[in-house]
Amino acid sequence: MSKNKGTDFEMIAKTSFGFEDILSAELEELGAKKIRKVTRAVIFEGDERMMYLANLWCRTALRILKPIGSFPCASEQELYDGIRTIEWNKYLEADETLAVDSVVTKSNLTHSLYVSQKAKDGIVDQFRNRAGQRPNVELSRPKLRIHIHLNQDVASVSLDSSGESLHKRGYRQQQGDAPLNEALAAGMILLSGWDKKSPFLDLMCGSGTIPIEAALMARNIAPGIFRREFGFERWNDFDQDLWDEIIAEAKSNQLPSLDFRISGVDRSFEVIDFAKENIRYAGLDKDIDLYSMAFEDYNPEIVPSMIVTNPPYGGRITDDDLFLLYKNLGDAFKKKYPGCTAWVLTANKRSIS
Ligand SMILES: C[S@@+](CC[C@H](N)C(=O)[O-])C[C@H]1O[C@@H](n2cnc3c(N)ncnc32)[C@H](O)[C@@H]1O
Repeated sequence: MSKNKGTDFEMIAKTSFGFEDILSAELEELGAKKIRKVTRAVIFEGDERMMYLANLWCRTALRILKPIGSFPCASEQELYDGIRTIEWNKYLEADETLAVDSVVTKSNLTHSLYVSQKAKDGIVDQFRNRAGQRPNVELSRPKLRIHIHLNQDVASVSLDSSGESLHKRGYRQQQGDAPLNEALAAGMILLSGWDKKSPFLDLMCGSGTIPIEAALMARNIAPGIFRREFGFERWNDFDQDLWDEIIAEAKSNQLPSLDFRISGVDRSFEVIDFAKENIRYAGLDKDIDLYSMAFEDYNPEIVPSMIVTNPPYGGRITDDDLFLLYKNLGDAFKKKYPGCTAWVLTANKRSIS
């Protein structure tokens, strides 16, 4: 992964709160330069190759943005004028499509939807005034997705190189009632410090997100390899040869198999079927064992070195049910998993205290 492609530019990898350190480490391993952590994002530099690699490989990133301009923006007029200082025909033709997303913090303009709408007006008016024709808005699969971050009355405008959020890996064909966000599952596993080479278990695996993310890591499979498309593939300067080379390299570096087991347990037959389907889609059938039973009844053949699990929360489950579930979980940890490290993702602080 050393071949250089063009000049370096700044990028912003967005993530969830608490994953900034892990994402920095992921980017560093990929060869990103001048890495800087901010809240819910990591700023870094690299070339086009780096942008493709970050999209394909970062397990905890949600989007990779490429900044293209910024301007003071304390009013509707400043937004409209500022957005028109960018030469949009470098990125888009008048007969193509766009979408604008905005995040607004600590600013005079407070409504993100309104900011998106006004920015879109400025962009399409630039085309209409010059060519008489204007690009149309398409929310699901635009040619160009534009991101505006308005903070303290300064608008930063970026191109969104990811398109759909990167947590949507593409392997999830089915899901239960409360599926875990794939990037969150990956972040938990990376935070756990699991060594990726010893037995791993999820005692309430639902549709299989945690075991799947663990198996992808252990087999060095890029999390983005199943996606149909990334935003940058629709850009004018998209380099198909470079992308083909990156994909081929990623596939050739996958480990063919694992010499330890990754396991998932769930008492719902229905979600275990969903998990099976997702695991099959990801090509991980040989790496993950599924057990359709309550974790209270499950007795591991080999005690895993790491458990990561995400118990039920909210919905129809009562406090009493949860109390019993956490009590049983604690008992199981003590009796059946000596020497094992367990991480539990919970919204119920009281239950585990
Ligand atoms: C929040 S969901 C897990 C979601 C999962 N991480 C995913 O991505 O799909 C909680 C799961 O715990 C399972 N569950 C609840 N009690 C259980 C028990 N005693 N033994 C095994 N599974 C249980 C439920 O069937 C449900 O699928």
